[in-house]
Amino acid sequence: MTLRTDRLALRRFRPDDAAAFAAYRSDPEVARYQSWEPPFPPAVAEEFMREMAGLDPVEPGWFQYAIDVGGMLIGDVGVNLHENRRQAEIGYTITTAHQGKGYATEAVGRVLEHLFVDRGLHKVSAECDARNERSAKLLARLGFRHEGTLVEHTWAKGEWTDDLLFGLLDREWRTIERNR
Ligand SMILES: CC(C)(COP(=O)(O)OP(=O)(O)OC[C@H]1O[C@@H](n2cnc3c(N)ncnc32)[C@H](O)[C@@H]1OP(=O)(O)O)[C@@H](O)C(=O)NCCC(=O)NCCS
Repeated sequence: MTLRTDRLALRRFRPDDAAAFAAYRSDPEVARYQSWEPPFPPAVAEEFMREMAGLDPVEPGWFQYAIDVGGMLIGDVGVNLHENRRQAEIGYTITTAHQGKGYATEAVGRVLEHLFVDRGLHKVSAECDARNERSAKLLARLGFRHEGTLVEHTWAKGEWTDDLLFGLLDREWRTIERNR
């Protein structure tokens, strides 16, 4: 199930990833627009690794790919497959030290290719906090369309925040790939 790119392996999480996973999820910059509060407890990371070990990426629900550069864990890409198995929501994180190097574009791009080509998905969606410029820029770079804004929709870290909704259809992705 490992997906590969020139620089990355997108693989299943392993028990020995727990410490690195807890470390980057504990970074306040990484957690800023995410649902959890730092620090991220190591015990929760260990439990996460146990849960991941038993999950099948083709079954509905969340599956997280570990992003591995030469044996080092630098982030993750999550795919939440809809019950109909033709739609999914994605999420992603790159450690602060590895941002700005194109790893997120490469990793999420590879997951999109897998979802549209190998798995026949019709649509992939993503949401981000309206202040999360790097995330919105990543989605635009990958060809996602802004489909709307949910105003003061999420109570996050002590305030009401706006959510940007993005979507990418199978045919839109194929057109982008043809013209790349
Ligand atoms: C959202 C997030 C994944 C985006 O990361 P990122 O580093 O901006 O994205 P990439 O890894 O694709 O890097 C793109 C940048 O690398 C540059 N780059 C350098 N080398 C590159 C290469 N070989 N190929 C492509 N881009 C390259 C690009 O020019 C771009 O720079 P810019 O931001 O100045 O335009 C990251 O900010 C993050 O993990 N944030 C915290 C978690 C989070 O908020 N997740 C999203 C929740 S909705």
